[in-house]
Amino acid sequence: MAEKEEVKIEKIVSLAKRRGFIFPNSEIYGGLANSYDYGPLGVELKNNIKSLWWERFVHRRDDIIGLDSALIMNPKVWESSGHLKEFSDPLVECLHCHSRFRADDEAPIENYKICPNCGKEASWTKPRQFNLMFKTFMGPAEESANIVYFRPETAQGMFADFRNVLDSTRVTLPFGIAQIGRAFRNEITPGNFIFRLREFEMMEIEYFIRENEWEKWFDHWQREMMEWIKKLGINPKKVHEVEVSEADRAHYSKRTIDFEYEFPFGQKELYGLAYRTDFDLKNHEKFSGQNLKYRDPDTNEEFWPHVIEPTWGVDRTVLAVLVEAYDDTDPERIVLRLRSELAPYKVAVFPLLANKPELVDLARQIYNELRSRYMAAWDERGNIGKRYYAQDEIGTPYCLTVDFESLKDGAVTVRDRDTTEQKRVKIEELTDYLEENL
Ligand code: GAP
Repeated sequence: MAEKEEVKIEKIVSLAKRRGFIFPNSEIYGGLANSYDYGPLGVELKNNIKSLWWERFVHRRDDIIGLDSALIMNPKVWESSGHLKEFSDPLVECLHCHSRFRADDEAPIENYKICPNCGKEASWTKPRQFNLMFKTFMGPAEESANIVYFRPETAQGMFADFRNVLDSTRVTLPFGIAQIGRAFRNEITPGNFIFRLREFEMMEIEYFIRENEWEKWFDHWQREMMEWIKKLGINPKKVHEVEVSEADRAHYSKRTIDFEYEFPFGQKELYGLAYRTDFDLKNHEKFSGQNLKYRDPDTNEEFWPHVIEPTWGVDRTVLAVLVEAYDDTDPERIVLRLRSELAPYKVAVFPLLANKPELVDLARQIYNELRSRYMAAWDERGNIGKRYYAQDEIGTPYCLTVDFESLKDGAVTVRDRDTTEQKRVKIEELTDYLEENL
């Protein structure tokens, strides 16, 4: 087999649109810059990633519980967390067309001879800090007293609800609170498809520990994050654990590691792991006046737990999974070699010929039966080759074909996406077969 070449991002974008994974948002109105919608297959892929994550880190562990907090929080939250003051990027503005660019990119814009937007000879303002939080107004009056913010991270929900979690559950240290949800950042230069968005989803855990154990738990989460990456089918050799320097760390972090993936447009952050110390709980206690300390059940000692925060971007996961799975080395077909847990459809069912009711009826029976257990696809259009091609492109692991032989031997042809091998499997053994192989 030919060596898998570097996947071009354009190919992913094209397949994603063609097959209903990801569409440009509000396209009928010319779109909205760097805003995307997940189509029928994209939402399945994304939900599979989120479910796998929730299952692994919340349901299968007895030290982590879940939370789903509101997107818009009391604005004091952002004062205490430091986001109002610190959550900003430096930007410069073109003096001709007033387009704004990040001043801290790898290829600094100040070095450009012409403005990439208007093409005029470069003339930049000095870098200014630009807060990334989206503002809106709550209530009818658009006045400063009513300003609220869309959350730029889910983490603050876990800190703001810390007291409620302690009082309503029986958690003891160490324990984590997990959340999956949307976050909003008014990024100056979004781009690279769904890599940098203004509205995105993240999966986060705030893991509360005793201060003297922070290194042990940091190491634990570093390993867990790498295991998760392998579980997704992402080649760990393409993931680099990069120590973030003090100057580049977020204002709350004493140590950060970025997990950078070799995306087609360069090695960039996929996930992050930070040691947030007791920064957040301490500040929320200071600003809210509420006791946010943990009481040790044995010693009655009260203290602010420290926090290790592993954080995973959902959209970047989708992108890395698509890049990793995309394979067009075979000139005959494009295959999405998705792990079966992630594939939108687990199985597709075809009658060999659409105009033979006896084949269609039997195929329908099998399809209906399988549909009660798996996401199953139905296709009776065109010839079998075309149907295989279409399922390969969306990553369906198995295709089942009902043919004339099936009416006699009670078996169907099962075709494997990755090897294209075909074998006969008895209809009554299909669920066992899929159970074993998916
Ligand atoms: N609570 C910690 C936190 O928010 P972050 O590194 O700023 O950390 C977490 O964001 C993750 O969210 C990143 O590792 C990345 O996967 C994803 N992410 C951040 N900004 C993003 C954006 N503009 N578009 C898509 N995903 C983004």
